[in-house]
Amino acid sequence: MSDDDDIDAALESRLTEQEYFRPSPDFVGQANCTDSDIYDRYEENYPEAFAEYAELLDWDERWDQVLDDSNPPFYGWFTGGKLNASANCIDRHLDERKNQTALLWEGEDGTQRNITYQDLYREVNQMAAALKDAGVEEDDVVTLHLPMVPALPITMLACARIGAPHSEVFAGFSAQALADRVDDADSDVVVTVDGYYRRGDFLNHKQKADEALDLADKDVDKLLVWERHDGELHEDVGLQDGRDLLVSELMADNERATVEPVSRDAEDPLFLMYTSGTTGKPKGCQHRTGGYLSYATATSKYVLDIEPEDTYWCAADIGWITGHSYIVYGPLALGTTSVMYEGAPDHPHKGRIWEIAEKYDVDVFHTSPTAVRMFMKWGEQYPQDYDFDFRHMTTVGEPIQPEAWLWYYKYIGDEDAVIVDTWWQTETGGHLITNLPALKDMKPGSAGYPCPGIEPAILDDNGEPLEEAAGRAGNLVIEKPWPGMLQTVYGDDERFIDEYWRDFSDTDSDDMADWVYKAGDGAVHERDGYFRILGRLDDVMNVAGHRLGTMELESAVSEVEDVAEAAVVSREHDEKGEVPDVYVILREGVEPSEEVRQRIVTAVEEEIGKFARPNAIAFVDDLPKTRSGKIMRRLLENISNDEDLGDTTTLRDPSVPERIRDQVQDD
Ligand code: PRX
Repeated sequence: MSDDDDIDAALESRLTEQEYFRPSPDFVGQANCTDSDIYDRYEENYPEAFAEYAELLDWDERWDQVLDDSNPPFYGWFTGGKLNASANCIDRHLDERKNQTALLWEGEDGTQRNITYQDLYREVNQMAAALKDAGVEEDDVVTLHLPMVPALPITMLACARIGAPHSEVFAGFSAQALADRVDDADSDVVVTVDGYYRRGDFLNHKQKADEALDLADKDVDKLLVWERHDGELHEDVGLQDGRDLLVSELMADNERATVEPVSRDAEDPLFLMYTSGTTGKPKGCQHRTGGYLSYATATSKYVLDIEPEDTYWCAADIGWITGHSYIVYGPLALGTTSVMYEGAPDHPHKGRIWEIAEKYDVDVFHTSPTAVRMFMKWGEQYPQDYDFDFRHMTTVGEPIQPEAWLWYYKYIGDEDAVIVDTWWQTETGGHLITNLPALKDMKPGSAGYPCPGIEPAILDDNGEPLEEAAGRAGNLVIEKPWPGMLQTVYGDDERFIDEYWRDFSDTDSDDMADWVYKAGDGAVHERDGYFRILGRLDDVMNVAGHRLGTMELESAVSEVEDVAEAAVVSREHDEKGEVPDVYVILREGVEPSEEVRQRIVTAVEEEIGKFARPNAIAFVDDLPKTRSGKIMRRLLENISNDEDLGDTTTLRDPSVPERIRDQVQDD
């Protein structure tokens, strides 16, 4: 049997087991999109139909053209239009809802802040003025290294206000990772906070920015430092004369300042978000202002089904794309109340999430399969202890196993809330495959239908399309551009083409029909037209929803002095989805030891961050290599996952995998 037949047989059996779940009539009655023609309308009227998304925003000048496809894959969306993202997320709501809470922030230590739209307006204006005082000008990229504190969305919106693209680096990244991103973005100004809470500890966070600025090639002019506790700097934090400025002081100087939102071209970049690819260096996905904001706003409205009156909680981190699109930009553009939580979900107890949901009467909840699996492991007694009632729930970031889906539906959604399983990526800006919840029934484990106007297809490795809805697995591609897509890889158009287009496009063509976006995921187009996402096909893994490149991990491990060669593969993990396993050959004469192991762990923590820590480190004598010397990671992955090795005859030394397996089992 071929691999494809294997996959088909496994899926066939899973498919027949899964039933559909219907949204309740109450949900459908109130949903934002009940127009069953929407799919046909967007298909027939592509790309003009996307104008409806842009019309959800306020524009200073209306666009001339919905899609400029004259130079694929460098598309233009809503070209000729002008708008400001901060004005769309704040100013335009002031007449109607200035006293409504925009951000509802819960600190891990129990502190709470209700930031109304009027408060947000004030603070964003002050911060915009502060950034200008620090020398930031329109089009300068400002790097942020902020955890889940109000300073983060405030700084993002302040940057957007003055037309300075922000580049937020997830707070869990190490100093080295921050330094790499500061260098790549060429930022003169970096913004951090003195500290934040994690499992009861008040961490010194500024220290990482200090180290990063030492490590960076770039001479950063200013480091702006927020204080987690108003006017009280973390006791271990110092300020470097001439370089470091306290945000509180800059804001006090600008107490009553108003800063006119800069009218940005629709195509001007709004932000960068670095993400891992198949090569060592992370790439800065550059998102445009008009297309991105239109897409994030429309999908928040139609997929997440948010109303301005809702209390909406996406329990992701703003340091990743999910938080950008679905904590900050989409929900605030719609004028809703968006909840932010600083800390760990099990601190000080495992009911923390449900306690917050009850306290704020959250209507719409959004989390990851990793979190669902963790809640499931902790047990249903925790949610059952609290009184909350979700209308709608989302999952994002990884495939969700039907068992976890069913648990989420039963114990969190009370068999009443709808669930949308949203497939998308840092690059796509917003959801591409997921059901419009009032229009399509739910099916556990399937992301569902493509969003309106989105045209996915499944190709074989030669780029030939598989028959539609045939239930076969292949490469997931998107055949037509959409407004939320990345513009390019920051500063590297060639890499943009190489990573996303070259494999399945005719790169000499200037006809958009010849350009196909490669998602890097495997998927099945099921017989009912739903898409089931299988996971990454390239050397990228997904650890508890954090995207990591095996090359990045390998280069971190290879920096350890005694390491001669290293290979990193992903092992399936009950809770985290995937975890990295490291296979290492040590230099001649070096014996495996706990000390070397520890140095490898430290290298990964220092190069990337603690969240990337290896699951297991195996010291081996050899690695499986082809005759041309390429490491066959697939075989190591089979060993890690206790699977059959399959054909090893093409290896230079076919006995290597078995030897490694024996060695690993002995360890
Ligand atoms: O493999 C897919 C997986 O996450 C990858 C994108 O990761 P990132 O850019 O960090 O963005 C995560 C949040 C959008 C994808 O290539 N992925 C994302 N959503 C799903 C998913 N896998 C299965 N089902 C999903 N709903």
